[in-house]
Amino acid sequence: MTAIERSGTVAVIGAGTMGQGIAQVALLAGHRVLIHDIDHDLAAAGAALVRERVERMAAKGRLDRAGAEDAIGRIAAADGLAALADAALVIEAVVEDVSVKRALFASVEAVVAQDALLATNTSSLSVTELAAGLAHPGRFLGLHFFNPAPLLPLVEVVSGFATDPAAAERAYDTVLSWGKTPVRCADTPGFIVNRIARPFYAEAFAVYEEQGADPATIDAVLRESGGFKMGPFQLTDLIGQDVNEAVTRSVWESFFRSPKFTPSLAQRRLVQSGRLGRKSGQGWFPYGEGAEVPAP
Ligand code: NAI
Repeated sequence: MTAIERSGTVAVIGAGTMGQGIAQVALLAGHRVLIHDIDHDLAAAGAALVRERVERMAAKGRLDRAGAEDAIGRIAAADGLAALADAALVIEAVVEDVSVKRALFASVEAVVAQDALLATNTSSLSVTELAAGLAHPGRFLGLHFFNPAPLLPLVEVVSGFATDPAAAERAYDTVLSWGKTPVRCADTPGFIVNRIARPFYAEAFAVYEEQGADPATIDAVLRESGGFKMGPFQLTDLIGQDVNEAVTRSVWESFFRSPKFTPSLAQRRLVQSGRLGRKSGQGWFPYGEGAEVPAP
């Protein structure tokens, strides 16, 4: 077992949905956690939110009082990147943009120790491309958590072209020691889950576009006969049509626009009209007060 010791600091960069969740996971595993964001107020709000969640867990009896107090004292918003100097592991969860992530890692590399592990939570960008240009690309890899990170066990541990196998094993052992279910994979577009899920969405959207069946019927069929927890329409409304479409586009581009991954025109229309799913109150289905998801 080569996991990072509990005494090692974990730095999370990006205090959004994923950064908050990953910070919570590392904190509850016993690490000191620093959250950094380009906007310091967001980092502070992210740390506060994780503390609140820990409080709520204690209030519900899912964590003892002493454990909660201890965890609450171990998380802080970082005062600039320089504050991450003693991090043993840095996990980046900032916007899905190659140039932003590459510039960020160049700055991170300048402040952390040479043996610190550097990980990206990217959903669809190339780990190999993100590592190019680093002085020590061997310690760089993907740690792809799923949303919500505190609840979902799977973490894809993605080795890029230059990732040192020992670094990948250290990251694998670390997330395993956090109670997660890591899976090793190579840097192919969409990794495992986001790639295999593409045809699931695409074929469902195609059946709808061909007027084969409506979204509620397709979802019900997949839930009831296919054994899926959610159908593709319900699930993409939860993920966000814009986010889901962006991943599809990225996988499609990465495979040189293979027709196998062609994005859906029906989904494009949803995104263009601002029907992004739950977060906007309307996607394939309506949400909010009084809205009823149509029964099949
Ligand atoms: P988000 O939009 O909720 O949060 C991103 C945060 O990064 C924001 O707080 C923003 O201020 C900050 N940020 C932007 N540029 C920065 C920089 N240069 N330095 C420091 N902070 C910066 O995004 P979300 O959804 O948490 O996604 C983050 C990453 O995780 C993306 O790469 C995404 O593809 C990936 N991901 C997202 C999942 C999801 O379901 N939302 C699931 C798995 C991976």
